[in-house]
Amino acid sequence: MRSAERLSFESMLSALSAAGEATRLRLMVLLAEAELTVSELVIILGQSQPRISRHLKLLLEAGLVERHREGAWAFFLIAQSGPLATFVRDMIARIMPNDPVFSADRARLVEVRRQRAEQAARYFEAQAQNWDEVRAMHVPEERVEAAIREIVGPAPVDTLLDLGTGTGRMLELLAPIAGRAVGVDQSPQMLGLARVRLERAGLRNVQLRQGDLYALPVEAGFYDLVVMHQVLHYLDDPTRALREAGRALRADGRLLIVDFAPHEEESLRMVHAHRRLGFAGEEISACMEQAGLACIARRDLVPRPDEGGKLTVSLWLGQPASAHPGADTGSTVSPAEERV
Ligand SMILES: C[S@@+](CC[C@H](N)C(=O)[O-])C[C@H]1O[C@@H](n2cnc3c(N)ncnc32)[C@H](O)[C@@H]1O
Repeated sequence: MRSAERLSFESMLSALSAAGEATRLRLMVLLAEAELTVSELVIILGQSQPRISRHLKLLLEAGLVERHREGAWAFFLIAQSGPLATFVRDMIARIMPNDPVFSADRARLVEVRRQRAEQAARYFEAQAQNWDEVRAMHVPEERVEAAIREIVGPAPVDTLLDLGTGTGRMLELLAPIAGRAVGVDQSPQMLGLARVRLERAGLRNVQLRQGDLYALPVEAGFYDLVVMHQVLHYLDDPTRALREAGRALRADGRLLIVDFAPHEEESLRMVHAHRRLGFAGEEISACMEQAGLACIARRDLVPRPDEGGKLTVSLWLGQPASAHPGADTGSTVSPAEERV
């Protein structure tokens, strides 16, 4: 065991006394399965809200669980980092999965998730027509996703950050090759849909956070791969967003941007709230440069005659300019360009 994972006598004692109580142990088992709100935990455990809140406070203080805010809501989950994270996961893994107490809690958790999924589906139904209209306008998603997989490569990444995660499709696609993944979006409804999608996919290494792309609620210099898929065209200041994305990157991390090439489809602006009608290759390279990044690869996916869609989707891969010795700025690295 690495020394970073060892605990002092005091930390071990406070962790054991926080964990050594029936409701708190049940809470930890549930929070290892899913991110949950206080009201969901109240329903699952059948205890009053003040009681659940008091237990959660003790678990938080002992560092056994974490909390993150999403607007007016707070989500709780089992500790994700620090020496206690390994300890608490090992402890929970040793509990018999078919223990009657935990089986009953899990059955109620399944019901809470089902209700959440129904709520998300209702919202999605209301949006579905909008989404299908936009999808029908560009090259098929399968081609875009194949190109994303290819440009990212098959090698595992330690930490993944998906900005403007929406319904979490990029996390579903890429979290399987990541150690840990975080998705950020400003919309609680979108995060609700993402939560349902990721739970269905059984992805346990993903966290969702509500936040603004201009002030990211994440650790600086921590991410190997940052993704912005179909997000930049909504923003009024793409360079500022890229600077913020660059701040989250490790020194040799990579930023993948996927967006439309320049187009004239005004309906996207009028009906779908797009601010920008796509981006020219050089425009994104210049924004990257201003944000201290170098564009190292670019790919344009042009619709084929049989695909019906009219809009080209482009991929740009960037890295901190400092990862390219001899290059003062991004502009000195010529990206590998490809049109397919
Ligand atoms: C087209 S949608 C989702 C795209 C998503 N990446 C995907 O692959 O499906 C764009 C998302 O960007 C989010 N968004 C737009 N501006 C944002 C901002 N300033 N901060 C955080 N999220 C933002 C929206 O809430 C929306 O969910």
